[in-house]
Amino acid sequence: MRKVMAFLVVMAISVSAMAGQITVGFAQLGAESMWRTANTDSIKGEAASRGINLIFSDAQQKQENQIKAVQSFIAQGVDVIGLPPVVNSGWEPVLREAKEAGIPVILADRTVDTSDDSLYVSFIGSNFIMEGESAGNWLVRELKAKYGDVKGEVFELVGTVGAAPAIDRKKGFENVIASYPNLNIVKSQSGDFTRAQGKEVMEAFIKSPEWTKAQTKIIYGHNDDMVLGAIQALEEAGVNPGKECIIIGVDAIADAFEAIAQGKMHVTVECNPLIGPQFYDMVEALVAGKTIPKIVYSNEGTYDYYCAAALLPWRRSLY
Ligand code: AHR
Repeated sequence: MRKVMAFLVVMAISVSAMAGQITVGFAQLGAESMWRTANTDSIKGEAASRGINLIFSDAQQKQENQIKAVQSFIAQGVDVIGLPPVVNSGWEPVLREAKEAGIPVILADRTVDTSDDSLYVSFIGSNFIMEGESAGNWLVRELKAKYGDVKGEVFELVGTVGAAPAIDRKKGFENVIASYPNLNIVKSQSGDFTRAQGKEVMEAFIKSPEWTKAQTKIIYGHNDDMVLGAIQALEEAGVNPGKECIIIGVDAIADAFEAIAQGKMHVTVECNPLIGPQFYDMVEALVAGKTIPKIVYSNEGTYDYYCAAALLPWRRSLY
């Protein structure tokens, strides 16, 4: 049975190769957030509209599954591999396997930690350090405008441990608040980028002595889904999120715009998941033998309570 299946896969690839069709293997990391769902839709939708043969796999947030998917794409001889690495370390052996097989890898959305950047052809996605800095800069401006002073206690909902956006959004935010001695992170815990775990972490924060002591309560989540879970925990604990806290998220998903419009959240920093078109532009260029840029960053904005309500219908139409 296995031999028959392997034969059919080889036949399918040979037929598409003969027809000049491009085959891409995309090792998606999971479906942990609304952002990720939008990203998957963009990758799948754009492949369909360009007639690209997409072999898509979902690793369910496990690095070993992503590695197996990449190895299977190599065995199938795809033209290009797309990889959003769930964590940023431990990729060199499998990236080397792809390189030795002559299959280019595009890091889509998240980066890897390697001293050998010849192991991938390009990175396309967000500048996560800049996103953390945007969140910090917005907070500093808000505190100055509201209290004339930059002070407060930050409760940080961290993304997946070891993931590039968790590491860099923390770094960027800390780069900014380092200049303000009375603005400090007093609690920091991972909610794995999910709404359910964001809620659990917030429930624990509310019970902590740091929460009771805090004068200006600030919640900074590395993504909107965790923040939306936290808002639920606050409401269940009888805390008015918009009035008793300052709440900052990242991603700019439509649900966050809605929470801001309802006065439950203050700001969200954009992280663009709709990278399908640029990703396949790169794929097609590579297959045509062209050179592509090593890094392509998305343009991103910051949306707060001044504009979120007016922009909500537009946002819902995007993701
Ligand atoms: O890598 C992008 C991040 O991954 C998004 O901010 C988050 O929502 C997702 O889980």
